[in-house]
Amino acid sequence: MSFNNLIVETRGHVGFVTLNRPDALNALNSELIEELNRALDGFEADKEVGCIVITGSEKAFAAGADIKEMQDKNYIDAYKEDFLGSWDRITRCRKPVIAAVAGYALGGGCELAMMCDMIIAADSAKFGQPEITLGVMPGAGGTQRLTRFVGKSKAMDMCLTGRNMDAEEADRAGLVSRVVPADTLIDVAMKAAEKIASFSLPAVMMTKEAINRSYETTLNEGVRFERRMFHSLFASEDQKEGMSAFVEKRRANFKNK
Ligand code: CAA
Repeated sequence: MSFNNLIVETRGHVGFVTLNRPDALNALNSELIEELNRALDGFEADKEVGCIVITGSEKAFAAGADIKEMQDKNYIDAYKEDFLGSWDRITRCRKPVIAAVAGYALGGGCELAMMCDMIIAADSAKFGQPEITLGVMPGAGGTQRLTRFVGKSKAMDMCLTGRNMDAEEADRAGLVSRVVPADTLIDVAMKAAEKIASFSLPAVMMTKEAINRSYETTLNEGVRFERRMFHSLFASEDQKEGMSAFVEKRRANFKNK
């Protein structure tokens, strides 16, 4: 597979994507999104891959949707092509996806990071939804996901003033899972991804599915869903292996079965 806007690698059991449009601070154009979706399809189908990492450059994870591609669109074009409609492929990944964010994650870049399962931020990261400054508004989930993650007041502040949030504020607000020194970002993200990929893939996938269900349902229904999935894992070979390994004081050897 060839990619013009991404570097796509498999590092051990981790699918690793680097957004790579350095001249445009990784602005997200249609070709990049189509390539990202293709890379994700490949990792989802690859039995050797247990976790996916998406990162950008030191300066920018992504500075938003490509403004130069958007500026001449009219309403009918945007509606007919369902502009941004294909961006949410990432939310349908069944394997975990980690966003490793350094520098700018603005507009669509922030929205893309929020579509991942967790965000590990470098201390240089800056998050924002500056669409209001362009005469528009977030269009890839910013008003919805940001509000769920950081609450109404801060989401209003970010989306209505267009200001950026630094990594420390993003950590306090619950937008990111951890903040690390910029020069350790890839190392930390890879270690987390390798750890996840070393566990039983069905247990990992069901855990992800259950956490995501909490956004779509009531607490009681969510807890019931979680318990049914928990019960189902007793049908797996990996449950027998994981618990036997604990009792026998050895390392578990999961087979993803
Ligand atoms: N789209 C297209 N090109 C972009 C871009 C974007 N979102 N962001 C940066 N670039 C380009 C610049 O045009 C510039 O290209 P040229 O050298 O050809 O002029 C290059 O990347 C470098 O950018 P700057 O010179 O502006 O770099 P800087 O360090 O001075 O500033 C920045 C960095 C503050 C991030 C600034 O680039 C910026 O404000 N970018 C736009 C951020 C933005 O508004 N994002 C939201 C887009 S709308 C959206 O995302 C909608 C949605 O919901 C999906």
